[in-house]
This record gives sequence, C-alpha cells and structure tokens, in this order.
Amino acid sequence: MKKITILAGSASRHSISRTVAKEIAAQLVALPEVEAHLFDPVETPLPFYQFELDNAENFPATAADLRAHVANSDGLILVSPEYNSSMSAVLKNTIDWTTRWHGSPDMGLLAGKKAWLVTTSPGGWGGMRAHGAIKDMLVNIGLWVYPKTLALPGYYNLLNADAEPGQSPFNEQTSTQLKEAVAAYIGNL
Ligand SMILES: Cc1cc2nc3c(=O)[nH]c(=O)nc-3n(C[C@H](O)[C@H](O)[C@H](O)COP(=O)(O)O)c2cc1C
Repeated sequence: MKKITILAGSASRHSISRTVAKEIAAQLVALPEVEAHLFDPVETPLPFYQFELDNAENFPATAADLRAHVANSDGLILVSPEYNSSMSAVLKNTIDWTTRWHGSPDMGLLAGKKAWLVTTSPGGWGGMRAHGAIKDMLVNIGLWVYPKTLALPGYYNLLNADAEPGQSPFNEQTSTQLKEAVAAYIGNL
C-alpha cells in the first residue's frame, strides 16, 4: 500500500489549485494499493506557526493531525498556486508546522519523503516560476523531489463547461494529462 498526503496550498474557497488537489485525490483513490489524504486548508485551517503554540498544551489539533498523516506517508504531493513568483504563504505555513515539534527542529518527519510538485495558474506559465523556490526548500529540508514537476497553465481553459456536480470539473485532455502524471509519480515511489 502506498500512502500519500496531498497538501493543498490555498485557503480560498474557490481556489483553482484546491480544485486540482481534489482531482488528484480522486484519481489516487481510484488506483489500487494507494491511500490518499487531502490536507485542505479550507476544511482544516492551520494558524500561522508561532512558538507559543508549539508546545504540549497549545499544539493545534490540525497540526497534530497533519503531522500524523505526513509521518505515515510515503509521498507528499504539493499543489500550490503561484503568488508573486513563489509558493503561497499557506503552503509554506503547512510545511513549517511539519518541521518543528514542541519548539525544536524536527526534520525527521519529512526526511526521505518523495515529493511531487503541481502548480496551476490562469496565466501562461502555470505557476512554473514558483517551482525553483519550492524545490529548493524541499531539497534543503531533506525530501526527494520527483523531477517531473507539473505546471498547468491557462486554468480556465482546462475546464469542462458541461461537467455535472460530482463529475470531474476538467476537460478530457486535462483529466488524461493528470491521470498519466499521477500514475507516473506513483510508479516512481
Ligand atoms: C497575492 C497574489 C499573487 C499572485 N501572483 C501570481 C504570480 O506570480 N503568477 C501567477 O501566475 N499568478 C499569480 N496570481 C494569480 C493567481 O494565479 C490566481 O489568483 C489563482 O487563482 C490563485 O490560486 P488559488 O485560486 O488556488 O489561490 C497571484 C494572486 C495573488 C492573490
């Protein structure tokens, strides 16, 4: 069984990257021998990391739950928007909570996890300009980054205007692209 935690990098209700993260989660659970957990900052918001919360009395339940899922995962999929050519503060904050435990550095939780980076944007670069910063961070904190990162440009052209509720919101070409990319990442875990 391969266990994956997906980190969605936006706290916006109508976030486009969250929609991609949900689609990836749906595709993962359809695969045999794969278990996926979506960490969703809208459903389970994390406070900004602060030292005063990072102790036995005050540790946020959301952060404890995140850490438990990450600890139990073989792979992490980060689905981020690009904010000002870098990762969102929401994604950074999520990562920050996984690297400290009761006030001390705790890089062991993430060490050796196999990360896949996916970004999207309404623009023509698909969030690609954030990849360098995110990859540098992940490598520096001990993760292995799957080299075939994915950027989905022109987000609003990727949708299926006729999708019914409960169906994938993406057009066939994008669904196939995601399916193949997800399968390739899982195959390399
Ligand atoms: C503060 C901020 C900075 C942004 N910077 C970029 C950027 O550098 N590149 C880009 O393609 N889009 C940028 N955008 C537009 C986002 O791609 C767009 O708002 C997208 O919907 C954000 O993803 P989300 O909906 O998942 O939060 C930015 C948006 C915001 C709010």
